[in-house]
Amino acid sequence: MVIQKICCIGAGYVGGPTCSVMALKCPDIEITVVDLSKDRIAQWNSNEKLPIFEPGLMEIVQQCRGRNLFFSTDIVSAIRKADLIFISVNTPTKTFGMGKGRAADLKYVEGAARMIAENAEGNKIVVEKSTVPVRAAESIMNILKANNKPNSSYQILSNPEFLAEGTAVQDLLHADRVLIGGEETAEGQEAVRQLSWVYEHWIPSSKVVTMNTWSSELSKLAANAFLAQRISSINSLSAVCEATGADVSEVARAVGLDTRIGPKFLQASVGFGGSCFQKDILNLVYICECLNLPHVAAYWQQVIDMNEYQKSRFAEKVVSSLFNTVTDKRIAVLGFAFKKNTGDTRESPAIYVSTHLLAEGAHLHIYDPKVEPHQIVDDLNSSTMDPDIVNRNVVIHSDAYSATKNTHALIVCTEWDEFVTLDYEKIYADMMKPAYIFDGRKILDHDFLQNLGFHVQTIGKKM
Ligand code: NAD
Ligand code: UGA
Repeated sequence: MVIQKICCIGAGYVGGPTCSVMALKCPDIEITVVDLSKDRIAQWNSNEKLPIFEPGLMEIVQQCRGRNLFFSTDIVSAIRKADLIFISVNTPTKTFGMGKGRAADLKYVEGAARMIAENAEGNKIVVEKSTVPVRAAESIMNILKANNKPNSSYQILSNPEFLAEGTAVQDLLHADRVLIGGEETAEGQEAVRQLSWVYEHWIPSSKVVTMNTWSSELSKLAANAFLAQRISSINSLSAVCEATGADVSEVARAVGLDTRIGPKFLQASVGFGGSCFQKDILNLVYICECLNLPHVAAYWQQVIDMNEYQKSRFAEKVVSSLFNTVTDKRIAVLGFAFKKNTGDTRESPAIYVSTHLLAEGAHLHIYDPKVEPHQIVDDLNSSTMDPDIVNRNVVIHSDAYSATKNTHALIVCTEWDEFVTLDYEKIYADMMKPAYIFDGRKILDHDFLQNLGFHVQTIGKKM
């Protein structure tokens, strides 16, 4: 079999960009991305605004859409005609029931597997693209086999995704590696070869790494756990720096120059956010607990605990610096996305910081270049559980100058490039005095700001 048609179930941050780049690089393959959400599919088919912001993505979608890339809500026919089906649905943390707050909720994966079981005929390769617990492929296979039609057969592969938001297109075009896990049977290995062939349209074969399914599933959780662990490690040291006079940027530089350690992911910050680090580590912790490995579970739990500590340390520093009270003070929050170059706010540290300050009675003036105002309001409503507070005490602005005008303090929560080059002289002139800046991303020129008259606080440096 040569793969001619691909279906991707789930048109989100992973399914959309992955299939767009795949369609660009595989003009001989027809790719249909399907979703239950009519709105999301309509946005993928729009020329104005895609449902997610990713640099370079619109150009690729416009080049491929209608040629060999299609976005549709007709899940059934896309499944029927596909040779290979990606499951790229969300796998959030469970919010109730067994494993609440830690285990991955596999209801969407199960839903997708059931749709495949009901509608597929012939031989299909089903690929787990979503991040899942170890041995999830077994559950998918059980669902498919229990509903097997006489004329259908399946191979399940694990092919976790490593793209990061904000750099998704470049990450997909120049992946460090593509991981494919499959069964060690002849049929399993043939399916692995088929999927490798798709990626080898643009990824060198030396970077397509194959292994057994469970190793592949665990490697995804391990990679995210290692990345988050580095951030928690440097953030833990940032507290030591603030207490001693060491500078965390200098420490990170010195440590990262060791080629065994390397310089990446050592940027101390207000804390990591995003839809995956916390969810995937919690999932790993839960798996370890279920496997009766409490020491391993406790080890990884610390990465999350340190992140919580970092976020609360930063929010408390804002309050204590402002004479221990922010009640009725106006505070500008610059950046609400969990990192630059995305409009995604899932688990953004800005939500934590804003919620903390609202609970202390502050009035917030929030600006983010890409996050939709209704998203900010929704996030704060669900984290404060008090729409009145949000209605009364939150104003969303469309630029940084209006957000900072007449405020007592300015907090940088996201490292957007445009915040580096703002006219801080003008901002200082328009703020209440004494004017405070809290740089949660370490992107500003602190000496320059102090010379302008600002009181500056940042992460990992005694000011
Ligand atoms: P997302 O929430 O943006 O998108 C998931 C989509 O799946 C939604 O649009 C939802 O409507 C759709 N969906 C759910 N059930 C469906 C069904 N039965 N049929 C059709 N559509 C269905 O999620 P995401 O950020 O793209 O993440 C997807 C998976 O990829 C997760 O497991 C995540 O951990 C993993 N991942 C995410 C990233 C990232 O940067 N966001 C990176 C690597 C891996
Ligand atoms: C992360 C991983 O980098 C991807 O490889 C993975 O595929 C993805 O999770 C996933 O599984 O969802 P993402 O969350 O999109 O990607 O973004 P990152 O660049 O990893 O940043 C995560 C958070 O850590 C952000 O809040 C960022 O600001 C913060 N961060 C990152 C730091 O505080 N310091 C750093 O040095 C790096």
